[in-house]
Amino acid sequence: MKHKVDFLIIGSGIAGLSYALKVADHGSVNIITKSNEDESNTKYAQGGIAAVLYDGDTHEKHVQDTLDAGAGLCDEEIVRIVVTEGTERVQELISIGANFDKKESGEFDLAREGGHSEHRILHYKDITGKEIERALLAKVRSHKNIKILDHHYAVDIITQHHLGEVVTSQTNGIACYGAYVLNTRSSKIETVLAKTILMATGGAGHVYATTTNPTIATGDGIAMVYRAKGYVKDMEFMQFHPTSLYNPNEHPSFLITEAIRGFGAVLRTIDGKEFMQKYDERKSLAPRDIVARAIDNEMKMRGEDYVYLDCRHLDRKAFIEHFPNIYNKCMKLGIDPFVKLIPVVPAAHYLCGGIQVDKNGKSTIDNLYAVGECACTGLHGANRLASNSLLEAVVYAHRAAMHAIIVNEVIGFNETIPDWNAEGTETPEEMILITQSLREVQAIMSNYVGIVRSELRLKRAFDRLEILYKENEALYEKTIVSPKLCELRNIICIGYLIIKHAMRRKESVGLHYMVKYGKQQAARLKS
Ligand code: FAD
Ligand code: SIN
Repeated sequence: MKHKVDFLIIGSGIAGLSYALKVADHGSVNIITKSNEDESNTKYAQGGIAAVLYDGDTHEKHVQDTLDAGAGLCDEEIVRIVVTEGTERVQELISIGANFDKKESGEFDLAREGGHSEHRILHYKDITGKEIERALLAKVRSHKNIKILDHHYAVDIITQHHLGEVVTSQTNGIACYGAYVLNTRSSKIETVLAKTILMATGGAGHVYATTTNPTIATGDGIAMVYRAKGYVKDMEFMQFHPTSLYNPNEHPSFLITEAIRGFGAVLRTIDGKEFMQKYDERKSLAPRDIVARAIDNEMKMRGEDYVYLDCRHLDRKAFIEHFPNIYNKCMKLGIDPFVKLIPVVPAAHYLCGGIQVDKNGKSTIDNLYAVGECACTGLHGANRLASNSLLEAVVYAHRAAMHAIIVNEVIGFNETIPDWNAEGTETPEEMILITQSLREVQAIMSNYVGIVRSELRLKRAFDRLEILYKENEALYEKTIVSPKLCELRNIICIGYLIIKHAMRRKESVGLHYMVKYGKQQAARLKS
């Protein structure tokens, strides 16, 4: 079955929905999304969205904080673009109906998170993402040109490969003509042709065993673009959030927002001692890579499975007002934050790398844009500053939309695209093959390619993953395509890219910490 649409969007988080609203007056729009329409990393964002909105703050300060967190690898021009344009984009979010908490005076109640020198995080209690997703979806649903196709899984983007042409990453003018999409209700693969395509598929936390990301975060968009020979960069920079709730039987892990540390909560080892002063003068509010590595180090040195977050000294009423979601969650587990300490561990949280894009969010493949967590713009460098992700998504959704609107006016559809060639015919009877391989990939990545890395661990991970890659490709060839099989294929691809990029980087920087280079750098600092 073939569909034609002017603008195809893959993903219904903040990136996909914001872009949809911008292009919708210029043609027909389909948003395809693999789960329920609101299921996304966006929906779980807690802390908020960073933006310069009050007189005491300046764009320059936000720029400097972002550059500092990025450990020297941010693209400064991009940082300036996102921070300065971000103010207007956040005002647009407010104008479409997203609520952010205000003080009695009517001013925004701005929070502070790790690495920020000012209070500049707009939030809606501790469920900011849910509120933004609600507001965007309401607006999207009311636009006559936008159609959301939920439970539709994008298997691959369509390029010249599908016309039988041999395409390499050096080929000039690889172009995207749409996507092959599995309608999971009918189990049929549909061909969706489009003039321009936006990849907005979010992150890849599920490459690791412990993650704050919902199950949709399997790196599909990045893997699709990589298979199509588009450029992908900075994949070694996987951000681990320092404080996910330690509750071993809960997957994904529940996040304890960094804003709680901004509110005064303090990290302690199990015997109650503060430790962050040993690692950074900003203590619990140092950038995330430093805090996560410090926790990891304390846990390893002491042979313990978690550290504590101490909220007992905080104002109970104000805490419950600001963090009702986290308070209720803790209370359900029998942890009254004013009596007991909250056990926390780092968890895979945000992928700084992704599909390489230019200032207009355009990938290296013609007609294909990428926005949000699946894209790599240069904003985050080696480590993302807290709450800059939602901001980046709205800024780039706008930029990509403005560019795509112009492109759409001058190009047509490629009518020669064949329907999906279903090679595999066997039904996936042995789901255990998929679930066990997934667990193996996650264990390999967590044990060998986590917060602290070494050449030996990376090599071992690479070799182990290669075996899984070959097994899964063989399975893929003969089996009817299913989301679980495709996700495993994509997760293996993302794992491979993280390892490959990590092996290439011969230094410790930001989120990529190699034992060998870490020690060298420490020795240099002492001398
Ligand atoms: P997502 O919101 O993840 O949306 C991706 C969409 O793509 C989903 O709809 C998904 O179903 C769809 N999709 C994926 N693959 C396919 C496929 N193959 N076919 C069809 N559809 C597909 N950032 C901040 O700035 N501030 C915060 O406070 C904050 N808190 C966070 C808290 C948590 C618990 C988490 C997990 C993340 C947080 N982040 C935060 C990060 C931020 O939420 C994400 O980076 C951001 O929401 C990503 O938006 P996105 O639109 O790019 O992707
Ligand atoms: C948090 O609330 O701690 C997460 C913020 C982010 O990931 O930017």
